[in-house]
Amino acid sequence: MNAMHPSALHGAVAGAALPHDSAHLHVSGAATYIDDIAELRGTLHAAIGTSERAHARIVSIDLSAVRAAPGVVLVMVAADIPGKNDYGPVIADDPIFATDVVQYYGQSVFAVAAHTVEQARRAAKLARIEYEDLPPILTAPEAVAAGSFVLPTERMQRGNAASAIAVAPHRLRGRLAIGGQDQFYLEGHIAYAIPREDNTMLVHSSTQHPGEVQHQVAHALGVTQKDVVVECRRMGGGFGGKESQPGLFACIAALLARATGKAVKMRVDRDDDMTITGKRHDFVTDYDVGFDAQGRILGVSFVLAGRCGYSADLSGSINDRAMFHSDNCYYLENVDIVSYRCKTNTVSNTAFRGFGGPQGMMGIEYVIDEIARHLDLDPLAVRKINFYGTTERNVTHYQQTIEDNCIAEIVAELEATAGYAKRRAAIREWNRKSPILKRGIALTPVKFGISFTATHLNQAGALVHIYKDGTVQLNHGGTEMGQGLFIKVAQVVAEELQLDIDAVRITGSDTSKVPNASATAASSGTDINGKAAQAAARTIKERLIAFAAERFGVDSTQVVFQRNQVRVGEQTLSFKELVNLAFIARISLSATGFYKTPKIHYDRKTFTGRPFFYFAYGAAVSEVVIDTLTGENRMLRVDILHDVGKSLNPAIDMGQVEGGFIQGVGWLTTEELCWNAKGRLTTHAPSTYKIPVASDVPPEFNVRLLERSINVEDTVYRSKAVGEPPLMLGISVFHALKDAIAAAVGYTVSPRLDAPATAERILHAGVETRERAATAAQTTAAAGVVA
Ligand code: MTE
Ligand code: HPA
Ligand code: MOS
Repeated sequence: MNAMHPSALHGAVAGAALPHDSAHLHVSGAATYIDDIAELRGTLHAAIGTSERAHARIVSIDLSAVRAAPGVVLVMVAADIPGKNDYGPVIADDPIFATDVVQYYGQSVFAVAAHTVEQARRAAKLARIEYEDLPPILTAPEAVAAGSFVLPTERMQRGNAASAIAVAPHRLRGRLAIGGQDQFYLEGHIAYAIPREDNTMLVHSSTQHPGEVQHQVAHALGVTQKDVVVECRRMGGGFGGKESQPGLFACIAALLARATGKAVKMRVDRDDDMTITGKRHDFVTDYDVGFDAQGRILGVSFVLAGRCGYSADLSGSINDRAMFHSDNCYYLENVDIVSYRCKTNTVSNTAFRGFGGPQGMMGIEYVIDEIARHLDLDPLAVRKINFYGTTERNVTHYQQTIEDNCIAEIVAELEATAGYAKRRAAIREWNRKSPILKRGIALTPVKFGISFTATHLNQAGALVHIYKDGTVQLNHGGTEMGQGLFIKVAQVVAEELQLDIDAVRITGSDTSKVPNASATAASSGTDINGKAAQAAARTIKERLIAFAAERFGVDSTQVVFQRNQVRVGEQTLSFKELVNLAFIARISLSATGFYKTPKIHYDRKTFTGRPFFYFAYGAAVSEVVIDTLTGENRMLRVDILHDVGKSLNPAIDMGQVEGGFIQGVGWLTTEELCWNAKGRLTTHAPSTYKIPVASDVPPEFNVRLLERSINVEDTVYRSKAVGEPPLMLGISVFHALKDAIAAAVGYTVSPRLDAPATAERILHAGVETRERAATAAQTTAAAGVVA
């Protein structure tokens, strides 16, 4: 990758493949995460006492042994909270400490502050809680049957799906289970609360949403937002898991800090983090589809049952996004989507890269694959015949006209560069001669809507200071979680002021610098914070231009910023010289910037409008091999073509595409969450929960950014959001595995495969598929005899 990558814009700094601003700190261990902040004298450590029932009434709580344990300074329950016992981000249904009823195994009931973290954790285990068990609801189908929901059922419709399906030449119905996923950020949840004078509080929180934590902490303490400052320099990963749920840990740290007058650190270990916090929603998707002989979908209905857990959290928007993405790249003329937001006695599921979109997309991709196998067509042909058009068949089921559709172009290019058709034929040939090992291939596309679907969240602020030596400090409302937001925004500012990137010091997120910022989420971090920072830099630049024009008696058009210099008429000053002169002339060298995404609007009552500013596109071809005797499997080759518009930083964007894809593969293959009959998560550590590792990267991995691409909308330097969309490229691996299973029966019947496609599932799907193929063959033979 170099600065001249064809997908990048050709600015000096914006568009350059610069390393992550903290890369040298990450690799040397010098990057400061919250647990690395030098602790203040007397810092206490917190631990959470959690419920050991999925659903029960609390009969009594005896915490005397906890209080008497060595090192314990304070034990806190709900009654000790001065403000509100709630950290719910949308609806007040997330108690910090459970009171009369516990609603999931692992729910916070009380907290301990002790001198060391070991003392706090040991003490928290000594509680005696007496429960009276209540019947738990653990799965989404159980919740649907019981009518147990966290939010009302929603429906999106266009045309008449039922009648289109009824008259269609072909019809298929089925059910697909799609597993959840733990975010598995390398840095677990953590907060460090420092009480300050006059009832104010500073909280360092590992959060994608400092403003939300500020709000939650203020509520819990019973103070106002002006009295709480939340900072986050960086997270060791968030992946959505730190969008709403850091509040629990921050509130506990702040409450204990307020009560003891000491700084309190609340850091959960991996097992507790996995048990206490929400994951990607697992879905059970029922489909009913009618289609013609070419595989064109005439009508389709989906019933999406998303397991939300015990509370609403962000489940409303997440399940909405699943509905919005149930079309993926396909024009669905007659469609009916019903979405159940299932309330279960499990952890409250939350944001995870894609935010419901991946689950919605899996439904339609599975349906397309089923149609192709039913008609004995190449699934890619069925995909193509259903693609949205560019001038017609280009309105989504929520009435947004797609103005930037480039999926046909991306797929055509990828198909050619990856040699799809030839390889598909060669794989089929190879499979004929390989009785045990079977190969599979699939090409799947992605179209992902960019913007928060809640329109008001699409706003951002920034703060830029220029100092007398001509250097710049940059702050904005976004947070850094490894995705490279900070360097990209710094590149925008450096480009705007025509400075070297080294002239810009990036500073951590801080609610006292930029107020009311949205979560860094929905992949929109760079889009919105980049524009806000650009606006701030431009404000100062305009002041400098006006000043220079007046001072040197030239027209303002004759003041031109060039690399580290400013040409004013005939003469050239260094940027530093100009800044100095401006300072002496008392010109303000600090500015805020603000941005709100234009054009978007959307009526949640009717689910219509333009929720998304634009769409991000990509496609992947994956080839896999499976061992039909064991279900073991691996990727052999993956080719990706992804559209990032004009890349602000091709190195960062490539990292996002590669990482997102691999994370998507983990979701659909090895990452399996298991709960026992009592509702306890049994996969709460890397010993039992398998995320992909470096050795799982396919041996041949060809990732390219779409060249000569430009965002048709006016985004920052015409770039496109990249954070979440590539995750859904992982869907190609799932379908390649399905193809490999089908190979074992000569492609005569379609395998039933749920996600994640673990080795066990692949093995069982193979057995089940062979049985069905044998039955089908017997039936055909019997029919042949009769005939
Ligand atoms: N990349 C890294 N390395 N770490 C993360 O936690 N989160 C993802 C994505 N890429 C994440 C990541 C998610 S869920 C989102 S929404 C976006 O980054 C958020 O950042 P952006 O809006 O700046 O792209
Ligand atoms: N995406 C991600 N996070 C969000 C959204 C969204 O659409 N809405 C609220 N939080
Ligand atoms: Mo990402 S799931 O929008 O934090």
